[in-house]
Amino acid sequence: MLSRKSDSSKFFHISVVGLSGTEKEKGAVGVGKSCLCNRFMRSDADDYSPDHISVLSQSDFSGRVVNNDHFLYWGEVTKTTDEGIDLHFQLIEQTEFIDDSSFQAFKGMFCGKMEPYVKRCAATKLSSAEKLMYICKNQLGIEKEYEQKVLPDGKVSIDGFICVFDVSAIPNRTLEKQVDVIAAILNNLMKTKKPIVVACTKYDDADEAYGREVERLVARKEYKGMIPVVETSAHDNINVDLAFITLAQMIDRNKGRAKIISYAEASRMR
Ligand code: GTP
Ligand code: MG
Repeated sequence: MLSRKSDSSKFFHISVVGLSGTEKEKGAVGVGKSCLCNRFMRSDADDYSPDHISVLSQSDFSGRVVNNDHFLYWGEVTKTTDEGIDLHFQLIEQTEFIDDSSFQAFKGMFCGKMEPYVKRCAATKLSSAEKLMYICKNQLGIEKEYEQKVLPDGKVSIDGFICVFDVSAIPNRTLEKQVDVIAAILNNLMKTKKPIVVACTKYDDADEAYGREVERLVARKEYKGMIPVVETSAHDNINVDLAFITLAQMIDRNKGRAKIISYAEASRMR
């Protein structure tokens, strides 16, 4: 058996980020980070839930899955590229958990001095002792009834980022608002020098203007043409693996290079 430590080196440690926060910040519903993670980790229809939550009770926030953090550990998965190369992933979702009684973000372990999400989500060193893998919202509070997998070594060092951009029109969230927040996130991610892929989520319900705006955003000169865009739908399981495999291949160029195909092309191929 490999030790836990040497084991870690074979993984691509990926952090999924995107507009997060209270309803005031993100609009009526979230941008699709959790659904993207769910579909990537557990792609079977039976294991896919379109319904994840970030509004929690204090006891769920301090339970071992959330563990007083603003990120989730989604576990590990292996995917095989078209060239037959196995890629091993370990996945984190960076979100913001909201207290269901005050409707404010939980203060967590930061003693009230929490950094804003757009900065915090660019963290490359995360630690959380005995944190359990997240599976689904029903697991919270009854963790023992589900598989209990601990974040190995209680820490993770991020190799690359998937930044989510929701291309569906959502009540109480303007396109401009999302562009501003994602630009701020991308600027912080760029400082880490780690590869970034933008995953457009909910392409099954896309508004064309949103798609064009994403292309304009990643074409800004500060991103140096380094950020590919993948059009995904977690609900329809389209291009989800492609987004993560593209990122892994940017992290390790020896792992081949997938061709990025559009949502329309990927749907036709099914
Ligand atoms: P927070 O963690 O609360 O910030 O949200 P999130 O970014 O994790 O979003 P989540 O994955 O919870 O999805 C928010 C809403 O978007 C849910 O109602 C999902 O069902 C819906 N949604 C997610 N993915 C898709 C998709 O591929 N297509 C469509 N049409 N809706 C989606
Ligand atoms: Mg979420």
